[in-house]
Amino acid sequence: MKLRYALVLSGTLLISMQTAQAAVDMAKGDALAKASNCMACHAIDRKLVGPAYQDVAKKYKGDNSAEAKLVKKVKEGGSGVWGQIPMPANSPKVSDADIKILVEWVLAH
Ligand code: HEC
Repeated sequence: MKLRYALVLSGTLLISMQTAQAAVDMAKGDALAKASNCMACHAIDRKLVGPAYQDVAKKYKGDNSAEAKLVKKVKEGGSGVWGQIPMPANSPKVSDADIKILVEWVLAH
């Protein structure tokens, strides 16, 4: 009985640790977006030069290919999805690893 309880407990701990790891670190994303100059053109809840991050998250909700698509877009820049104003390329100024974190953070809004 005791062993079974211990197994269940360690299983629960493992699952909660994995969940914590998968969750997006919003504070880290905030700081990174400021440091990477994204906030010069974007705001969370209103359109500036680029779309509001809340609108981006809404547009791609439920789209499993969104992360890969947006990582490429943020790296290379481009226009035509939200209007005619282009986003300049952010790569290589912002590292690939940081862009992945930023896109996950944008999609979590
Ligand atoms: C000079 C202004 C500018 C900067 C700096 C900028 N963006 Fe953008 N961003 C834009 C514009 C304009 C668009 C809309 C492009 C379009 O219509 O296709 C956009 C679109 C986006 C989109 C949505 C793309 C799509 O295809 O739906 C994401 C995500 C995004 N930006 C993230 C970022 C991140 C992360 C950074 C910082 C590393 C950043 N942007 C820096 C102007 C900017």
